Amino acid sequence: MTVDLRTRYLGLDLRSPIVASASPLTGEPASARLLEQAGAAAIVLPSLFEEEVVFEEVEINRSLEAGTNSFAEALDYFPNIQSFAGAGDRYLARLRQIKAQSAVPVIASLNATSTGGWVRYAKLMEDAGADALELNLYHVAANPARSAADVEAADLALIAAVRSSVSIPLAVKLSPYYSSMANVARHVIDAGADGLVLFNRFYQPDLDLDTLEVVARLDLSQPWELRLPLRWIAILRPELGPDASLAATSGIGSATDVVKALMVGADVAMMTSAILRHGPDKIRTVEASLRTWMAENEYESVSQLRGSASSTAVEDPSAFERANYMRTLRSWSAPRDLTPA
Ligand SMILES: Cc1cc2nc3c(=O)[nH]c(=O)nc-3n(C[C@H](O)[C@H](O)[C@H](O)COP(=O)(O)O)c2cc1C
Repeated sequence: MTVDLRTRYLGLDLRSPIVASASPLTGEPASARLLEQAGAAAIVLPSLFEEEVVFEEVEINRSLEAGTNSFAEALDYFPNIQSFAGAGDRYLARLRQIKAQSAVPVIASLNATSTGGWVRYAKLMEDAGADALELNLYHVAANPARSAADVEAADLALIAAVRSSVSIPLAVKLSPYYSSMANVARHVIDAGADGLVLFNRFYQPDLDLDTLEVVARLDLSQPWELRLPLRWIAILRPELGPDASLAATSGIGSATDVVKALMVGADVAMMTSAILRHGPDKIRTVEASLRTWMAENEYESVSQLRGSASSTAVEDPSAFERANYMRTLRSWSAPRDLTPA
């Protein structure tokens, strides 16, 4: 039995649901080529960061006002400022190169925390040939003076600003930390996003007890991390309807992970950690296993799989919501006798 892996994501026709999400490998032409050769159905470039672009603007203003020290304070704010110089241009050049060599859609990514003139980079990415744009919203709501409503309103204003500056499809990569996720998801789509990428993975800083420094730690994901996007995609798929695209990202490393993501309602399953651990060829083996699994389980196509286990399709929709909590806690059993010896 041959299986049809084709899917649609952000209005783009993809040969399979396996997409290479943003990582250092997707941003270099040589490794992007390997990802495509291994079967990646689309490639999401790493993000161009707001800080990088804003720094460039500070630099331009500084050169215009050469001789004054008016920007000294602003420059102190940015770490590694030299490495930011020309970041925007370098990004656009790599995007053009990767687009020129790729037969699969190339999605550019913009990391943002606020609206501002730098949003013009969305348009520059479109002009450089991006097939779609992923807006990566990454911020920690640490200011007690800002309410959840303020934070959400700012995010929606940013999405609307980016939406109005480009005509290519727009996906928004969201954090899982909104207090009313389903409401935010709805508003993000209403603000003009064509789809959601669930979820952005937050990297938690650690403390080095020798130096007493706060250190950045980047751990690759573990398989259990897929459960968070699974739950939310299951809940959101019926809410958002068939036109909104949904991408699952976090913890996807096997064909069965891809099957789960599709079954709850994702259009694509994105991989980064698995590729960084095992190399680009991991995509090929996951695709082969996906074909085998689907044939053995008599699924002819991805469209047949998609949404077959979303919250309205399963027997017990509450399993994705509250009731699960109590049952899960009660299901724990001690691995050994805990009575003190
Ligand atoms: C080294 C590294 C770099 C990443 N860079 C970006 C980035 O620039 N923009 C972005 O949106 N996500 C970035 N991510 C997040 C991934 O795209 C992905 O969403 C996340 O790792 C979860 O997927 P996974 O479990 O398959 O790794 C990065 C992840 C890693 C490990």
